[in-house]
Amino acid sequence: MTETLLYEGKAKKVFTTDEPNVLLHTYKDDATAFNAKKRGSWEGKGKTNATMSAALFAYLEQNGVPTHFLEQVDDTSIKTKKLDMLPVEVVVRNLATGSIKRLLGFEEGRKFKAPIIELCYKDDDLDDPLVNWHHLREIGVSDEDIEFCEELGFKVNEVLAPFFDERGIILVDFKVEAGKDENGNPMLADEISPDTCRFWDKETNEKLDKDRFRNDMGGIEEAYAEMLRRVTS
Ligand code: TMP
Ligand code: ASP
Repeated sequence: MTETLLYEGKAKKVFTTDEPNVLLHTYKDDATAFNAKKRGSWEGKGKTNATMSAALFAYLEQNGVPTHFLEQVDDTSIKTKKLDMLPVEVVVRNLATGSIKRLLGFEEGRKFKAPIIELCYKDDDLDDPLVNWHHLREIGVSDEDIEFCEELGFKVNEVLAPFFDERGIILVDFKVEAGKDENGNPMLADEISPDTCRFWDKETNEKLDKDRFRNDMGGIEEAYAEMLRRVTS
């Protein structure tokens, strides 16, 4: 297979493959937080992120959500369709933690009456600012695409919140991204992992996600391994 490195990010590498519309994503054990101001690495992270993403994308497909996922190639790599990405991060929140506490003064763990969607403009130089439809239109994102992003966020939440609940996990919040294939069909992209979601144990409220790294809580390797176990068992 002729693979050319197309992009190297904080936590993954993306390669071209023999097929023009197929990419290979290889997840690294490296992590950053706070827009790369903080760096770290732990064993098994790449495996958890690749394997959990593969399992969740497959489950979402079975439940009517179109995704870029094609197949898991090895422990740390997945093949996906090649997409034109929308410059939007879609955040869905069920409980208050993280940036919404600063934004609106909410108490930690406040349970929302209904899931809350936030749209962010994907731009590292600007720290991915929270934006509304008007900003996104000006940036050049169509109303149809913004609507797709919001519906996608809600649908992913509807499918995954019960999936995690059955495994003793509260899906507190998460971030997803979307892109379009060569025919212009929009679909879910990027990854779904403890890097991009917040997971709390239902019984103990223990955090089982990247917040352990962001907030120097220790036990990060064990948390990722535990989430992989819950998703794949
Ligand atoms: P926030 O509370 O820091 O805004 O994060 C909301 C959700 O988005 C949380 O599940 C973590 C995820 N997230 C990312 O996937 N990438 C990011 O760069 C940030 C800041 C958050
Ligand atoms: N992914 C972001 C970074 O690399 C932020 C985060 O996940 O906290 O800095």
